[in-house]
Amino acid sequence: MDTQLAAIAVHDEMADAPLSKLDTANARESGLYDDDEPQPRDHALALLGAVDVGGRVMVTSRDLVDEVTRNAAVFAADDLIDQGNTRPLLPISIDPPAHVSYRKLLDPLFAPKRMDTIEADVSARVNHFIDAFIDRGHCNFTDEVADKFPPAVFLGLMGLPWEELDTFLRLRDGLIRPGTPEMTNAERTQFQLDTGQEVYAYFDTILDDRAEHPQDDLLTHFLHASCDGQHLTRHEILDICFMLLIAGLDTVADSMTCAWGFLAQHPEHRRQLVAHPELIPNAVEELVRWNPPTPIQARWARRHCTILGHDVPAGEIVYLNMGAANLDPASVPDPLEVRFDREVNRHLSFGGGVHRCLGSHLARRELRIALREWHRRIPEYGLAPGYQARFGPPPLRFIPDLQLAWPEGR
Ligand code: HEM
Repeated sequence: MDTQLAAIAVHDEMADAPLSKLDTANARESGLYDDDEPQPRDHALALLGAVDVGGRVMVTSRDLVDEVTRNAAVFAADDLIDQGNTRPLLPISIDPPAHVSYRKLLDPLFAPKRMDTIEADVSARVNHFIDAFIDRGHCNFTDEVADKFPPAVFLGLMGLPWEELDTFLRLRDGLIRPGTPEMTNAERTQFQLDTGQEVYAYFDTILDDRAEHPQDDLLTHFLHASCDGQHLTRHEILDICFMLLIAGLDTVADSMTCAWGFLAQHPEHRRQLVAHPELIPNAVEELVRWNPPTPIQARWARRHCTILGHDVPAGEIVYLNMGAANLDPASVPDPLEVRFDREVNRHLSFGGGVHRCLGSHLARRELRIALREWHRRIPEYGLAPGYQARFGPPPLRFIPDLQLAWPEGR
């Protein structure tokens, strides 16, 4: 018998695995949208509720995205992502009930109180990058700050020295943007898988060291953390480290390119932040609402269902367009205005439901500190003369080569 859930009808036929997995090595060919002014298009999509994209259903309105993310029994994340991993990523590739235990254990390690303890370190790390070019009067913001700062923060969290930065960057890129455009799809997939094996081996070696020489760092905490009396196995810790490398570095970098790109082109917003640094926490929420770095998420249907009349066979992938849902008036009033004075900002850039972002407090802290330090030191800046900011290819939203300039010799 069919069950009616608002706009979603759930039918009897079931699947116990996704029909296909997300091909992250070759995601540029996903057929997902690609343009430089996504907000008016996303706003129009939000009003439609759900659309067909290359034969799959994409939900776009706030209500429907909420329904899907909150109904893990029907819309699963289980074992959907292939990103060089040979075991499920923890905790994104595991659904409740097992998922609950992992979050119980991990949440305190990324809680706001814990983030208070790294404030000075994060601030020193962003200033390290600014020091390198402030007197030059211009920089490639993507290469010289956004790309390197979040991995540098992770080095600190994991108790690793600065010298490991290049290894971290290479491993991250090999998982997120594997290979070269000239490679075949199969070669790119192999490149990603090879990097994945390196990632497991890299963290395994460091964990051996931490088991013998405990430090006050994340890896040592993983070794000793327990949930319901159980410690994490070595495989589980490696699967979490793998996930952090995928989820925690590029997302913040991409958000930074979008945020600075916006501020460089909207001097009135930039001046508002310089004059009122107390608005920075609100500005972070508004800037990630406006340009979510990962606008599209995915689930697979455990049951055959119909979403606003669109048929979804059991096992098929459903896309969730958080970028569109953020521009639904049900999320914020006047969604096409960028306002740093919003008291309430119900955006979905950090996801929703059980898989809501584990690292949102870390991401917010990094973005706030970087905005504060940059605008304290470089209050006047814009796009470099002659440079036009363009987004990179989907499914991520980022500016691959953001060129900024400011008065020299400050
Ligand atoms: C601006 C930066 C970030 C954005 C926009 C972002 C966005 C997201 C989104 C949308 C999800 C939900 C995915 C889904 O529902 O399928 C998610 C999950 C996740 N994020 Fe983030 N993220 C960011 C930074 C971070 C950082 C710094 C970390 C590192 C700790 C992190 C770790 C995770 C993890 C582990 C999950 C999976 C949570 C679970 O399955 O329970 N993220 N993130």
